[in-house]
Amino acid sequence: MYNKEQIIAEILSGKSTDVQQEKGAVYAPANIALCKYWGKRDSILNLPMTPSLSISLAQKGSHFAFEVVNEKTDRLHLNGQAVEEQHDFYHRLFSFINLFRSHAQPRLNIHITSTIPIAAGLASSASGFASVVKGLNELYRWQLNCSELSILARLGSGSACRSLWDGFVEWQYGSRDDGMDSLGVPLDYKWPQFRIGLLLASSNKKSISSREAMAITKQTSPFYTLWPQQVATDLMGIKSALAEKDFAAVGQASERNALAMHATMLTATPAIAYSNAQTTAWMHQVWHLREDNMAVYFTQDAGPNLKLLFLEESTEDILQLFPEVEIIAPFPSR
Ligand code: PMV
Repeated sequence: MYNKEQIIAEILSGKSTDVQQEKGAVYAPANIALCKYWGKRDSILNLPMTPSLSISLAQKGSHFAFEVVNEKTDRLHLNGQAVEEQHDFYHRLFSFINLFRSHAQPRLNIHITSTIPIAAGLASSASGFASVVKGLNELYRWQLNCSELSILARLGSGSACRSLWDGFVEWQYGSRDDGMDSLGVPLDYKWPQFRIGLLLASSNKKSISSREAMAITKQTSPFYTLWPQQVATDLMGIKSALAEKDFAAVGQASERNALAMHATMLTATPAIAYSNAQTTAWMHQVWHLREDNMAVYFTQDAGPNLKLLFLEESTEDILQLFPEVEIIAPFPSR
């Protein structure tokens, strides 16, 4: 078993951790998994039980700005609001940053601006930790590449390792105990017409963290043993459908994968149910629309919000049917 410090030392070997740049600003997109990561084989290094595949959300993500300050404590602002030292988020962020620096180093003033609701199952920790490692890469001028940053981001939050790139990204889960082969890899499928519709059923903090929920599911769900096989089938299905631009096949496999993940959670002890009445109502609406031959599918993460999957040609219909939807075009530069 390795610890985070050993992995960081290996990636940064020969690199300095003296501050090189006093100020900087970076950005990382959020990502939504079409084939989910659910369950760790190593909970220290966030090594997953299975591979996964996501799409990055272009302009929806985290802006991370830092400034070196001559003060005794670090300061943090989230969406313009000061975050107190006692706050969980402050603790989680600086415990991560402290893995990379000694106490003698100057403190930082950090501003994180998230363009998606924090901790509502909308993958804000993914863009958050990806933006932090990109920021540290500037602060120390390590000049690490995206693959190295992906491994470091994974140490903060598993799904963050997919947020170093735009477009479709596969997290190759790897087999090594040190996780050096467990990182994001960008996939070469471009699909400018692909759309994601965010439906916010609640912007409250999640009822149970994904870390805790994954552990309970893995330990107690009788269906968890089926999960790796389900992922293997869905991942293969999604990749070949992406290669053929077969939207119905991408949608079907993605939706089934999300439902299978939630089915494993519902059968855990205690049961973990992220959906609320609104989530379920939207699911039924999507299924009815498909009966009427509309090509719309959904996926759902560790929260009650739903993400619709559809193509550009359905935009008008989606806006009419789901007036509260926020539509994202993941490939904006057409
Ligand atoms: O990276 P975490 O610990 O926030 O877990 C993410 C889990 C899911 O969002 C439900 C699935 C995924 O692959 O993103």
